[in-house]
Amino acid sequence: MKSYEKGRLPQIIWGSKSADRVGTELKSADVQKCLLVSGSHVIKHPITQKIIHSLESLGIVCDVFDRVLPEPTDSLCIEIAQEIKHNHYDCILGIGGGSPMDAAKAASLIAGIPEEIEDLHEYGKTGARMREQWNRPCMLVLMPTTSGTGAETTASAVISSEKHGMKFSFGNRNIAPDLCIIDPEFTLGMPAMPTAYGGVDALAHTVEILVGTGANTYTNTILLSCLEKIWTWLPIAVQEPENLEAREQLSWAAHNALANGGIPNGHAVTHAIGSLYHVVHGHACMMVLPAVIRHFAETAQEAIGQIAVRLGVPVTGDAQTDAERVANAILSFYKSLGMKPLRETLQEKGCLDDEQTFIEKMIPVVMDDFKSHQWLPPIHTGDYREKVGRVCSAIYEEM
Ligand SMILES: [Fe+2]
Repeated sequence: MKSYEKGRLPQIIWGSKSADRVGTELKSADVQKCLLVSGSHVIKHPITQKIIHSLESLGIVCDVFDRVLPEPTDSLCIEIAQEIKHNHYDCILGIGGGSPMDAAKAASLIAGIPEEIEDLHEYGKTGARMREQWNRPCMLVLMPTTSGTGAETTASAVISSEKHGMKFSFGNRNIAPDLCIIDPEFTLGMPAMPTAYGGVDALAHTVEILVGTGANTYTNTILLSCLEKIWTWLPIAVQEPENLEAREQLSWAAHNALANGGIPNGHAVTHAIGSLYHVVHGHACMMVLPAVIRHFAETAQEAIGQIAVRLGVPVTGDAQTDAERVANAILSFYKSLGMKPLRETLQEKGCLDDEQTFIEKMIPVVMDDFKSHQWLPPIHTGDYREKVGRVCSAIYEEM
């Protein structure tokens, strides 16, 4: 059996109405002064308001930073870090989708670095060059309000560099929070398309890790369960926004896909699309996933066979045929959710490049992401321009 290593996990409280426990958990951790980091929309949510009142009623100061926008920038994270330093907060509470949680994670880590940082991308670099000695000066608590990102447990934050025009991973194992409180009721009533985008993000994490180089018996046991839940319950949540059972199943799957998984390799390409064309993350995920499955056809034949069984796709035993069938089943799944092709969105935004321009723009951004070094067969070695170009070309043809 393949050996594996499990990273540090935070304390996790999962379940409907778990948001009611925020105040008592922070009180028992002796928190005096908390900075709530979020977006303006999430702050108005009744559950968020209830959390603020609960903290205040327990005598905990709760200041609010509600200016996090999608794709948080390095300068925004540095700004929040300065607030943390100057106001001596002993707890950062990040509430929202991936963007507010990533901003809270990055800012709390930057706040522990004594030197001034101007260019976060250059300072942190990516992946293996993250500095192990960085540590944050305060407690970090994260609460997701969507079922997709899984950012509440990962050891990196995805940040946009304004200077370099790309998204990059920032952090180290100390960026993982101390406590995650995951209340599926945050997602009740979410409209169909944000629900679909979140669910497809979770689906992409699940499948990319299942076929990836880090997959093992531990990850796959949980991931196959996540896959079944997403495949069954995402269409129901899209149709019935108030269905609590569907919301709970998706919340569990989205959280566990990353909390117990590994590195979603395809996201090297997904983040590049997001960086260059500014589309919703789940929308970028949708066209990358089929290309990932085809790329890993031979090296992940067993995993793709297991995926096929969960999706109800007949297995032939021929690696290429089975990968093709699974990729096509996923494309049909998108249609059943009412998702628009990515090409259409890019056309509407007036930013659909021709294929060659798309490929040329994508190659350096994909290569900057350490996740592009985890593909099999490799795409980052030797004639990488041709190999990455081939992947991008396949995505362009299909999107
Ligand atoms: Fe993702």
